[in-house]
Amino acid sequence: MIIEHPTEIAHFLLDRAIRPGDVVIDATVGYGDDTLFLAEHVADFGHVYGFEIQKKAIDSCADRLTKANQANQVTLLNQGHERIITALPPDLKVQAAIFSLGALAPNSFEHITLPNTTISAYHQILSRLNRGGLIVFVINPQFNETQEEIDYLLADLSRLDANNYQVSHFKDVNTNHGQVLAIEKI
Ligand SMILES: C[S@@+](CC[C@H](N)C(=O)[O-])C[C@H]1O[C@@H](n2cnc3c(N)ncnc32)[C@H](O)[C@@H]1O
Repeated sequence: MIIEHPTEIAHFLLDRAIRPGDVVIDATVGYGDDTLFLAEHVADFGHVYGFEIQKKAIDSCADRLTKANQANQVTLLNQGHERIITALPPDLKVQAAIFSLGALAPNSFEHITLPNTTISAYHQILSRLNRGGLIVFVINPQFNETQEEIDYLLADLSRLDANNYQVSHFKDVNTNHGQVLAIEKI
C-alpha cells in the first residue's frame, strides 16, 4: 500500500511546510515518532518544542532522540499542550505543529486527548503561526480518540476565517484507517 497510516499523510504535508532552521511543535509527543521526524526536519539550527502529560512517554522519547543524535534541537516539556503559549519564548513564531489524537498506545484508554484542551492548544498555536505555516491533526482509530473530540474539532475548524486559513480534511472513502485535518495559514 502507498498510504498505510494517516501519519504518512501528515508527514508528507509537514515535509512541504518545514525548512531547516524552523521552530515547530509536537503537541502530543507520546513515544516520539513525530518528534524525531520534526527534529530531523528542522536540523540542528531549528527547534522542536514537545508537549506530553505522561512522564514515561517523555523519558522514552528523550532516550530515542539521544540515540538518534537529535536531542540538541528538542525541548521536551512534561506538561499539557493547553499551556503551550506560556511555555514558548515571547514573540517566537512557529512554522508547524502536529497533534496526534487519542492515547499513548492502542490498548490504552487513559490520558487520551480531550476536545477542550486540543481546541484551546491549537488556537494558541494559531496566534504564533507564520503565514504559510501548517498545523496537522492525525486521527488514527487505533489510538482510541473519541468521536466527541473529532466532532468538536471539526465544528471549531469549520468556523475559522477562510480569508486567513485553509482547512483541509483527508480521509478514506471506503475504509477507516484514519484521517488527517490540516490548517494552513494563508
Ligand atoms: C496518539 S498519542 C501520540 C503519539 C506520538 N505522536 C508518537 O509519535 O508516538 C497521544 C498522546 O497525547 C498525550 N496527551 C493527552 N493529552 C495531552 C495534553 N493535554 N497535552 C499533551 N499531551 C497529551 C497522551 O499522553 C498520548 O501520549
